[in-house]
Amino acid sequence: MRVKVLRQRSPVSEPYWQEFDYDPHGNITVAGMLDELNYKDDLKDITGESAPRIQWECSCLQGMCGGCAMVINHVPRLACETFIADLKGDTIILEPLSKFFTLSDLVVDRGIIQENLKKADAFIEEYRFDPGADHDRMYSVAKCLKCGLCLEVCPNYKDGKRFFGAMFANDCYLISARSGKHEEEIRKSYGEHFAKGCSKSLSCMDVCPVKIETLASISRMNRGK
Ligand code: FES
Repeated sequence: MRVKVLRQRSPVSEPYWQEFDYDPHGNITVAGMLDELNYKDDLKDITGESAPRIQWECSCLQGMCGGCAMVINHVPRLACETFIADLKGDTIILEPLSKFFTLSDLVVDRGIIQENLKKADAFIEEYRFDPGADHDRMYSVAKCLKCGLCLEVCPNYKDGKRFFGAMFANDCYLISARSGKHEEEIRKSYGEHFAKGCSKSLSCMDVCPVKIETLASISRMNRGK
């Protein structure tokens, strides 16, 4: 099997493709494959040239941290949840998420997600417990990994400067459901940084690894409760 990786040695260097041979075995994920390639004493590409280790991020290896989000065979996914046996063809193509700044190979800077939350004053100022609230739904929205897959497929999210994307809409819903204060400001930020720009393609819901129903958050925010 061939593994084709879009490499970039530093934030300022030019990207280039490099190919590797890999013998898949057992029920292995893309994350497992990257680990195996990187733990070879001397990683070589298909021309026999020594190659630097492939940079990528991971922490939990069980679909809970979002660190390993990347584009695999043109589809944004978590590497630790993508089994090689489920991929079609005999080449695996790996690219970094394109909506973020590439730091190195498959590692991107997702800091803008937090920066935008700060910019929009999206935080819980005072926790309000409402026994009648839909706690199951709030829990399912709170599982957001901030992995960025939803932003990668969104036709409206470009550089995060104006339109903040699906995860911001979900955060606004959570904050307005839980917070006793500054709800008006949150609604204003939601309108400015989400509602105005969303064209409801809902592609975000197709790729969300924890299956957050963003449409339900949007309709609750639009209804005002
Ligand atoms: S390593 Fe945590 S989600 Fe993949």
